[in-house]
Amino acid sequence: MSTPTTEHLAAGRTADVAVAGLTKAYGDVVAMADVDLTIASGEFVAVVGASGCGKSTLLRILAGFERATAGTVEVGGTAVTGPGPDRGVVFQDYGLFPWLSVRENVAYGPARKKLPKAQVAELADRFIAAVGLTRFADTYPAQLSGGMQQRVAIARVLANDPSLLLMDEPFGALDALTRADLQTELKRIHTETRTTVVFVTHSIEEAVYLADRVVVMTGGASHGVPGHVQAVVPVDLPDRDVTSPAFNEVKRTISDLVHTVAAPA
Ligand SMILES: Nc1ncnc2c1ncn2[C@@H]1O[C@H](COP(=O)(O)OP(=O)(O)OP(=O)(O)O)[C@@H](O)[C@H]1O
Ligand SMILES: [Mg+2]
Repeated sequence: MSTPTTEHLAAGRTADVAVAGLTKAYGDVVAMADVDLTIASGEFVAVVGASGCGKSTLLRILAGFERATAGTVEVGGTAVTGPGPDRGVVFQDYGLFPWLSVRENVAYGPARKKLPKAQVAELADRFIAAVGLTRFADTYPAQLSGGMQQRVAIARVLANDPSLLLMDEPFGALDALTRADLQTELKRIHTETRTTVVFVTHSIEEAVYLADRVVVMTGGASHGVPGHVQAVVPVDLPDRDVTSPAFNEVKRTISDLVHTVAAPA
């Protein structure tokens, strides 16, 4: 399996994310070591791997919530030194402001940028519509189902027009039907916006359905090997028919890699 190189970049696209030699230690424990990853602008990359292999650590460093112990991380050609409006983050637990309505939650970022009121309202309405919640714009998070709350969280992040969307198991708490709906919606939104996405999931099927490439991480403290990138698998499928033999072949390849724990090269 090839290691990530720029040859995976589509012709003419700029590298939106460039991670090189990324290492993260917590005290004596090296959680993640020597991660190299290049992601093209507009690409959808999924990250899979067993619990503790460093998926969330990688995401938090990309978000700027944590600093790397060693290595470099660039987003849009700029070194990441902290959180920024160019990167939007969606976690499993929605993270909405419970005291704000759906519209106010989605308008929050644009309003903070001090955009004109009419433009803030237009952005909020557009992204609430994009996730199918127009009828619920004046509702409060507590009145919504988990799936609806996660739709609001996605709309809220998109309204900030991030160049990079970071998602850590965003659908992990949802029931299977809601999850499938949101996967379809996210795929459509990505096709329309071409926002670069890094999407962490435990579901290999979800990764293969959504992503252009799947990053497989292995290792982690409980394996005595730092978490690292085991392989990067391009998903070259004509369609994403989850029942097709080709789809299941890609799933099997990734599943085998997830269960391989090898030392970093
Ligand atoms: N704040 C912290 N302090 C100490 N160790 C940490 C901290 N955060 C993460 N770790 C360690 O770093 C390793 C990677 O954790 P991380 O949360 O990135 O894994 P993950 O792949 O996201 O796992 P999961 O699939 O369970 O979410 C783990 O061994 C974990 O114990
Ligand atoms: Mg995690």
